[in-house]
Amino acid sequence: MFAVPLGDGAELRQLEPWQAEEFYAHIDRGRAFIGRHVGLPDAAHDLDSARRWLQSYADKAAADTGRVYGVRLDGLLVGGVLFRDFNAAAGNCEAGCWLEPAAAGRGLATRAAEVIIDWAVRERGIHRVEWLVSAENTPSINVAKRLGMRREGVLRANYLYRGVRQDTEVWSVLAPEWHAARTPR
Ligand SMILES: CC(C)(COP(=O)(O)OP(=O)(O)OC[C@H]1O[C@@H](n2cnc3c(N)ncnc32)[C@H](O)[C@@H]1OP(=O)(O)O)[C@@H](O)C(=O)NCCC(=O)NCCS
Repeated sequence: MFAVPLGDGAELRQLEPWQAEEFYAHIDRGRAFIGRHVGLPDAAHDLDSARRWLQSYADKAAADTGRVYGVRLDGLLVGGVLFRDFNAAAGNCEAGCWLEPAAAGRGLATRAAEVIIDWAVRERGIHRVEWLVSAENTPSINVAKRLGMRREGVLRANYLYRGVRQDTEVWSVLAPEWHAARTPR
């Protein structure tokens, strides 16, 4: 219903449990690409689990502890951005993103993440936005850099993914840095 234009025919829209079939079809198109470093395709391994995953985010939104939004290109769901955690009282949140391969390489993930981070910082008073990323995930690290985030350090071998322990890089941007890099909207 409500959409934020991202330019070049792309939009950011709500992504809710009633859209599970469309969401599952999208995840299926991007399964290998999206799943190289993140567990979303494993969490949404069939229609029921895809619906449960969306419901978990609807529950988080109702509790104000997380949110997910869909990225659409010419109407087709091609990706998303999310707050995996959101704690307005503490002023902290963790953001993330994904795209199916056909939508990558256009700046959509960065622009979509910028919209939700801007909302978190300006409207919700979030002070610190984290970005946790596999040290091998160069495209996502590049998104963090484009968002103006700084690399804080590495959680060594903290993430067991598909049988392999991965290092996780912690990137973040703080509200004063976010404001300083942008003119008020
Ligand atoms: C992480 C991920 C979303 C990054 O996708 P991406 O397309 O590289 O990132 P963006 O959408 O911001 O696009 C930026 C790229 O588009 C290019 N681009 C082309 N046209 C552009 C435009 N008009 N504006 C901005 N960038 C543009 C940029 O140069 C950049 O390419 P480069 O990094 O090769 O220089 C994607 O790799 C993905 O979904 N991976 C799997 C899931 C995942 O790992 N998610 C992150 C978990 S932490």
